Amino acid sequence: MSLPDLAVEALASLDALEADGLSAFTGSGSPAEVEAARVEFLGMKQGRVKTAQERLKALEPSAKRAYGQRFNAVKGSLESAHDAAKARLDRPTLAIADGFDVTRPGTRPKLGHRHPLTQTTDELIDLFGRFGFTVARGPEVEDVHHNFDALNIPPVHPARDPLDNFYLSEGTMLRSQTSTVQIRVMESQPPPIRVIAIGRVYRPDTVDATHSFMFHQIEGLMVDKGVTMADLKTVLRLFARSYLGEDVKIRFRPSFFPFTEPSVEVDMLWHGGDRWVEMGGAGMVDPNVFRAVGYDPDEVTGFAFGLGIERLCMRRHGIDDIRLLYQNEGRFLGQF
Ligand code: DAH
Repeated sequence: MSLPDLAVEALASLDALEADGLSAFTGSGSPAEVEAARVEFLGMKQGRVKTAQERLKALEPSAKRAYGQRFNAVKGSLESAHDAAKARLDRPTLAIADGFDVTRPGTRPKLGHRHPLTQTTDELIDLFGRFGFTVARGPEVEDVHHNFDALNIPPVHPARDPLDNFYLSEGTMLRSQTSTVQIRVMESQPPPIRVIAIGRVYRPDTVDATHSFMFHQIEGLMVDKGVTMADLKTVLRLFARSYLGEDVKIRFRPSFFPFTEPSVEVDMLWHGGDRWVEMGGAGMVDPNVFRAVGYDPDEVTGFAFGLGIERLCMRRHGIDDIRLLYQNEGRFLGQF
């Protein structure tokens, strides 16, 4: 073999070395196979790269340069192939073998949030809290004394009609209004009083876009020396503006409730709205209510109001069907 032939053959052997090495590394299917390929090709003592390096010495000086350059390239490419194979297989194989691949992208947990009615409730508690109102609670299963008698609703009043109430027995019922809590609060403490009560009320109404057999009310009660209707209007107006916007107008319309005298309906008008919307009732606490709880109507006066939570929430968000609030439908609730 002539010298040039030897040089050509040496370069060809580097090509073969590279091809063999690359296929050994890319074809390894386990860390053990990668390690075997590393020993065979990159091993310090008898690795094929090492052997190829030693061959350089036997070459003619004129061939050394080309061989050396090609050798460096082959060595580099096999080292990279080794690194790549290691990286590919150095994954937590144990976890994969267990049927759980920790390297797979995770599933993002779906975070829920508070129901829009709960958001409204929390906001009302916050707003009235700033006016000094604390939160009072009362039972949903109520007796007729708190739901009617103590609220100055006489035994023959149509509001007591069995067709309009969920009676549980002769003397008990699902409360039809949160005004019951006014009585419970005043029975349990002397004036002054500044409370709101928020909760469910029940009436056998036929369900449609604006009615439900169960809905929520917010009740307010303030009792002290010298409380007037101006206080009532101020509190409700400040509340309406805070909750629904600066441009909301509020109007009192004369009305009648057995537990207030005088009584009003509370209407609100929104910017751009074309009609007043009734949001609830209010008035000055009737002296008979004070007498029923042992307060002296000559000593204190007070105002009370009751508003529908659903109405406030629907108005705020532009919801046009009350049933949407009870159906627990994710696409609907996700909007708020
Ligand atoms: N309880 C009444 C209802 O459910 C609303 C109401 C009116 C509450 C006047 C009040 C009030 O406190 O003063 O229709």
